[in-house]
Amino acid sequence: MFELVDRDCTGRIGILHTPHGKVRTPALLPVVNPHKVTISPEDLHGKFGFQALITNSYIIRKDDHLRERALAGGIHDLLGFHGMVMTDSGTFQAHVYGKEGVTNEEIVSFQRDMGVDVGTALDVFTEPWGGLEKAREGMEETLRRVEEASTLRGEMALAGTVQGGVFPSLREEMAARLGEMDVQVHPIGGVVPIMESYAYRDLVRVILAAKRGLPPGRPVHLFGAGHPMVFALATLMGCDLFDSSSYAKYAHAGRMMYPDGTRHLKDLGESPCGCPVCREHDGASLRALPEGEREVKLAEHNLWACQDELRIVRESIREGALWDLVDRRSRAHPRLFEGYKELCLQAGQLEPYESTSKPSPLFYTDHLSMRRPLVMRYARRVFSRYRPPEKRVLVGFEEGSRPYGRHYADAMAKVLKVADSHFNVQTVLGPVPIELDEFYPVAQTVEAAPWDDQTVKRVNHMMEHLSHNLRNSLAVMWDGDETLDMLRMMEGRGGSFDIMTARARATADMQFGGGAADVLMDGDMELVTSKKTGKLRNVIVNGEHILSMRAHDGMYTLKLAGAQKLHAAWASPRLRVIVDEDAAPYAREGKSVFAQFVVDADEEIRPGDEVLVVDQADQLLAVGRTLLNRREMLSFQKGMAAKVRKGTASEDDR
Ligand code: GUN
Ligand code: ZN
Repeated sequence: MFELVDRDCTGRIGILHTPHGKVRTPALLPVVNPHKVTISPEDLHGKFGFQALITNSYIIRKDDHLRERALAGGIHDLLGFHGMVMTDSGTFQAHVYGKEGVTNEEIVSFQRDMGVDVGTALDVFTEPWGGLEKAREGMEETLRRVEEASTLRGEMALAGTVQGGVFPSLREEMAARLGEMDVQVHPIGGVVPIMESYAYRDLVRVILAAKRGLPPGRPVHLFGAGHPMVFALATLMGCDLFDSSSYAKYAHAGRMMYPDGTRHLKDLGESPCGCPVCREHDGASLRALPEGEREVKLAEHNLWACQDELRIVRESIREGALWDLVDRRSRAHPRLFEGYKELCLQAGQLEPYESTSKPSPLFYTDHLSMRRPLVMRYARRVFSRYRPPEKRVLVGFEEGSRPYGRHYADAMAKVLKVADSHFNVQTVLGPVPIELDEFYPVAQTVEAAPWDDQTVKRVNHMMEHLSHNLRNSLAVMWDGDETLDMLRMMEGRGGSFDIMTARARATADMQFGGGAADVLMDGDMELVTSKKTGKLRNVIVNGEHILSMRAHDGMYTLKLAGAQKLHAAWASPRLRVIVDEDAAPYAREGKSVFAQFVVDADEEIRPGDEVLVVDQADQLLAVGRTLLNRREMLSFQKGMAAKVRKGTASEDDR
């Protein structure tokens, strides 16, 4: 029922398919209290654009009149809302008022019988700081109830909530056990007190732990999160749904929500917001309104603020700039920044979900950027996948303007007159072989000068690591004529370095894995360059077009002839997406691969990678580009896993 359509790292734009229509995620489900309607469901849909809402089945069930109407005509008629309706189970009420008053079986059956789209099992709300013992007890009881609910759900999609307090090991264990059950949506629960106390570091630990255990193909709901401050951060960690009554509760208390925090109406001069309410009113004119009207205006502002922020979050995903949004947003409050720092510390967990190439530049703002998956991945790959050309001398350049190959073309020519040399550049990403100057993210990195101390330390550390592995007899930093004089004295014999050939080979190794260049370029190689830009366009080997280089990210698209070479040389599952027999004929004809047909895949595959699509007998069917990594391909039941560019049964290989 959940499909991923676009992504940025662990953040995703999805479609939740329900009997009452599709919901585009990340989405906020506003809480509707049938006893106290601040904004009508009709307006929530028509005016504010909400595709789904959430209400409390416990409150409806307790009220004879509402209960009878809900059972007779269904929840959608009762609310006057015909999009997706999710219901909560009364867990929170039971927790706050201390009495349950309803069993899991009763409340799940009731939700089912009202015809809700997503119903929630009666989880045991676990206080974050209530100790390990209690958290474990609550976990076991909740697991038992979710299991029971899955036998009662009928056609209703079931939400099974991850509890576990602030204990990452419990959160992860519980998530994994829920992942084995017949559950369609996974709320992360017990986080309201964490968010209310601004304990964002705990929030990040809790969400990341739950995500480690949960199947990535199921939507994740952050229970009780309805402040625009957290949307970007929570989305980046893989949350898809939010819900909250905050917009109404805050309005009642005279509080206004913004992506950078909360403001109180009593202090408000001008509202830094462009919503219809704030365009018409400043603080004074809002304060002058009659109480009831003022509360509605504030609730409306709060809803606009949430919707605006979610639009920004989704667009940032499309742009590949969600991390940058989080980086900016998190600086609004030191506690939120703590959460971001925690995320940076644990960012290794996100790396398998990060695309190999993105439409946006990589903004390196400060030392926290060194934890970004793209930055860590570049370093790991350049040390493990890349093999430098064998030269006696290595000349290192300081950071210059990009592309480095052009910036340092003169200097390289001078060096090559007196020494047989290779070249690299000391960049904020670490040492960059000069021929990788167009490879994503090298050419697309924009850093803030001067580098901060921790960045300098990391880069120096990497240079040291490099120097231990050097096979050159001599390595020097470029210092103009002095370097030339020294090389003339010590070497004296010139050499040649063809940056285009080196680029063709290095890109193949970095992108497909160590040894790819040897496999792909094992014959007469012809490199076709663009007449206009001089950039590498096509790689022809023994007369066959095997690779094309994309101008925007300096990476290859793999042609069928190239795919055949890699397929023949490398054993399964390397670089493969393996599909079942139902999907094989379609892939062969050039149709894309959907997740439900994927049997297995290479664990090293990242979103955006060029891959070999094969059948279970390892016959090459097609070449394509992934949207998902292996874990996601095996988990999603809907949506595209890899976009096929060419099937082996289609004739011309463009
Ligand atoms: N609403 C806010 N937090 C929770 C929670 O932990 N469980 C449920 N069921 N609803 C909630
Ligand atoms: Zn506003």
